Amino acid sequence: MSTTDKHAGPRKTAFEQRFSRYANRIVPSAIRGLATMAKAADCVSFGPGEPDSTLFPVAEIRDSLARILSKPETARAALQYGASEGDPALRDRISTYMHTKGVQCDRHNILLTNGAQQALDLVAELLVEPGATVLVQTPTYPGALQVFAAHGARMRGLEAARAGADDRPALIYAMSNFHNPTGATLSLAQRRELVALAGDLDTILVEDDPYEMLRYEGEALPPLLAVDTEARSIEDARTIYLGTFSKAVVPGFRVGWLVAPRAVVAKLALMKQSEDLQAGTLAQACLLDLFDSILDTHAGRLRDAYRIRRDTMLAALQSELGNRASWVVPQGGLFIWLNLEAHLDTHALLSRAAEVGVTYVPGSAFQPDGQGAAALRLSFSAAPLDRMQDGVRRLAKVLGDNAPGGRSGLTR
Ligand SMILES: Cc1ncc(COP(=O)(O)O)c(C=O)c1O
Repeated sequence: MSTTDKHAGPRKTAFEQRFSRYANRIVPSAIRGLATMAKAADCVSFGPGEPDSTLFPVAEIRDSLARILSKPETARAALQYGASEGDPALRDRISTYMHTKGVQCDRHNILLTNGAQQALDLVAELLVEPGATVLVQTPTYPGALQVFAAHGARMRGLEAARAGADDRPALIYAMSNFHNPTGATLSLAQRRELVALAGDLDTILVEDDPYEMLRYEGEALPPLLAVDTEARSIEDARTIYLGTFSKAVVPGFRVGWLVAPRAVVAKLALMKQSEDLQAGTLAQACLLDLFDSILDTHAGRLRDAYRIRRDTMLAALQSELGNRASWVVPQGGLFIWLNLEAHLDTHALLSRAAEVGVTYVPGSAFQPDGQGAAALRLSFSAAPLDRMQDGVRRLAKVLGDNAPGGRSGLTR
C-alpha cells in the first residue's frame, strides 16, 4: 500500500489519502498477526483461541443439511433471503434457551447477527460517539478493543470508574463467564456489583458470553442480563447480552445473537439491514435443526474434551512453571492467563518462543494502553493433548532463559 520515502517516512497512496477517519482508526488485531509469524516446524500453538476443528459436528451438520435440502419447501426457504432480525423460529428457540438462564424474553428481544463480533460492532455503532469513554475489564478481548477504537472510543479500565474518575461512559463491556483472556468467572456478588455500577453510572452494560456452554465445573450463575432484569422487565433493562454458536458449534457459520429491549433490537436490525441485510439463511436453518442435539449431546462432548485439555495444561504448568508464574484455574472456556515475573516482556519474547516451537498471545495485546507485558494468554483448545507438556516445557525454557542472570538479554 504505502511506500516509504527515506526523508518523509511512509508516503500515502492516492487511495490512502482518501481513507475516512473511521478507516484510519482500524488497526490490525495482535492475535490475527500470529498466523503469519515464522515458527518452528513442530510448533505447539497455544496462541489463537480457535475451537478444535477435529471436534466440529461435521456428520451432524451434513445430515442436517441433507434433511433441509432434500425437501423442496425447506430447501427454498433455507436458500432464500430472510428477515434482517433473523429466522423467527430460531429466535423463538433462542429465547426459550435464554429463559433457562433466567432471562424472560421473547423473539422480539432477539437479533441474529454474523457472530458476536458483528453484534459488538453494531452496539458500538449504536452507542459510541468518537471521544466517548468505554469501560472495560482489563485485560480484555482484543476484538472488542479493535471495535471500540475504530469507533473513536477512549478505553478505560473499570477500576477508573469505580474510583469515580470519568464522566458518564457510553457503555461498559464485560464478560461474566470464563473471561477472554483471564479465564475468570464473576461471582454472583460481582455480577450484582457490576449491574449496580452500570446503574450508578447511568450507562449500558454489554455482556459478551461466547463461552457459556463450555463450563467444565461449578454451578452456572445467572447472566448479568438476568440479574439486571430480576426486578424489572427486559424492556427496562440496561444490559445487552451477546451469545454465539461459534464456540459450541462452528465459527464458520458466523451466527450469533443479541438480547435487548425490543426497541433496541428494532433499531439494530435496521442498522444490520444497511450493513449486510441479514445473517446467512442456510446456517440459521441448520442451527435451528440442530439446536436440541447441540444442547443434549454435542456441548457435553465438547466439555469432556476441553476439560481434559485444560487439566493437562494445568498439570504441565504446575510441573514446569509452578514456581515462576501464577494463574487462576478457569471453570470453563478455552484460556489460561499467566502472570509472570515483572521483568519479563512477553511481546519481545514471542518471536524467540516461536523459533523454539511454542506460541502464545502476549499480555499487551489485551490492554487498551498496550501495557501488561509480564503476562500472557495460553489457549488449550487447539494443541494436541500429547504435545501440551512439550509446549509448556518450551515456554518455561524461553521464560527461564530470560530470568535475571539467564541466557538472553530480552528482558526489561
Ligand atoms: C470474548 C469474545 N467475544 C466475541 C468473539 C467473537 O465471536 P464470534 O465468532 O461469534 O464473532 C470472540 C471470539 O473469539 C471472543 O473471544
